[in-house]
Amino acid sequence: MTGTGSIGRRLTLLLAGVAALLSVLSWWMVTGLARQAAERTQDNVLAASVTTIAETLRSEQGEVRLELPYSAFSMLGAISEDRVFYRVSTGDTVLTGYDDLPVPTEVAVSGGRVLFDTGEYSGEEIRMATVSRLVLAGTQPVPVTVTVAQTRGGVASISAELSQLAAFLSVAFFLVAVTLSAFAARTSLKPLNDIAAAVSRRGPSDLRPLRRAAPTELAPLMTSLNRLMDRLGQSIRSAEDFIAEAAHRIRTPLATVRAQAEIALRSARDDEQKQRLRQMIRAVDESSRSAGQLLDHATVIYRSDDLMRSPVKLSDLVGQAVAGLEPTAAMKDIGLHVDMIPVQVEVDPVLMENALRNVLDNAIKYSPPDTVVTITASEAQGEVRIAVSDQGPGLGDGPVDLLTHRFQRGSNTQGIVGSGLGLTIAKDVLVAHGGRLELESLQGRNGTCATLVLPSS
Ligand SMILES: Nc1ncnc2c1ncn2[C@@H]1O[C@H](COP(=O)(O)OP(=O)(O)OP(=O)(O)O)[C@@H](O)[C@H]1O
Ligand SMILES: [Mg+2]
Repeated sequence: MTGTGSIGRRLTLLLAGVAALLSVLSWWMVTGLARQAAERTQDNVLAASVTTIAETLRSEQGEVRLELPYSAFSMLGAISEDRVFYRVSTGDTVLTGYDDLPVPTEVAVSGGRVLFDTGEYSGEEIRMATVSRLVLAGTQPVPVTVTVAQTRGGVASISAELSQLAAFLSVAFFLVAVTLSAFAARTSLKPLNDIAAAVSRRGPSDLRPLRRAAPTELAPLMTSLNRLMDRLGQSIRSAEDFIAEAAHRIRTPLATVRAQAEIALRSARDDEQKQRLRQMIRAVDESSRSAGQLLDHATVIYRSDDLMRSPVKLSDLVGQAVAGLEPTAAMKDIGLHVDMIPVQVEVDPVLMENALRNVLDNAIKYSPPDTVVTITASEAQGEVRIAVSDQGPGLGDGPVDLLTHRFQRGSNTQGIVGSGLGLTIAKDVLVAHGGRLELESLQGRNGTCATLVLPSS
């Protein structure tokens, strides 16, 4: 059977794909947020620093004076090793600081509002905070602009560090998600595997509907499986019915043909004619036996699906079979010795009687006249054993197991009517009861021993 891949693997891959996507997304988001947070921290410190400087501006004798407060720079140094630049200017005149520091694109208007800008200074990216204030110099208020700038190495390294941590966590998350996906896939497929196992555990003729609880998604599968088994069971049953019906219909006219042939044989004078009639009777017997055995076999198959067990005394069961065959045995002067134990068995009596009859029939049929057939019973190790031994020719050299196959007859059957179904019937009955049929040629003396083994009840 060629498969179309495993559902479990497909499900795992799908879930792992989703997990990978989510991992990358969360890494990307965390990295972005980390950078934003670092930038905001720097902005806050820059703002505090620039405001502190702006507040120390005062005028002295008509000139703007500035004493750079140490704290304004120390707070910037606290967050990283980044370099700090500053400039204080009025209009185009730089009062102090780095005069080549880039001028903020948006010119700060007064009001103490801090404006931020990003630029480049001596080959490095810098963040600038600018505030402007009016300082009274003499009689006129002069607008003074203070700019504090800092390189962004610290921001970059903090966000790189956090990004790395986020990447590590994302990979861990991904691995956990894949493991859980595989587990989830296996768990959700378990009911399917359970059903498959339940079906394959069944015996070959067990076509009862599956009655286990299944998830809703599997209900259609269960329904169609049960419907299929039902149809299969029906068609097997109708085939068996047909065989039984056909066998029955054949037997009745055969009996008529046999009776007519017997009459003709009695009135026949010609030897050759007599011989022909004898052959005819024999053929009729063979057909009739086959039809009867086919009918019995169909009954066995029909009933073994649903055994009608009831407790019966073993001696009753054997007694019935023996009684049925006593006339046949008497015709050959064969003695039937029965040695029973008082034990009860839980069996389908119709089928068991059929099995016993077939084994006993063989013992009588294949034994020479004036011999004894012994039927003994014993119980040991949870098994009841019914042994039928005769003083006949034994089972021959061929494989014994083959004799229980349908229509298989031995090499010792010349002139003996039979269809090759007797042991098949006996074996099928015993197997349906959880037992088995044992066959052996008796060593030392002539004869066969067929043992019907049943589990004790
Ligand atoms: N007690 C026995 N002694 C010798 N051979 C036997 C004995 N029982 C069975 N066999 C051999 O096993 C073969 C199969 O037996 P089985 O009962 O299945 O078929 P059958 O007796 O030939 O036909 P029928 O269906 O009429 O019983 C027989 O043909 C015979 O060769
Ligand atoms: Mg037989």
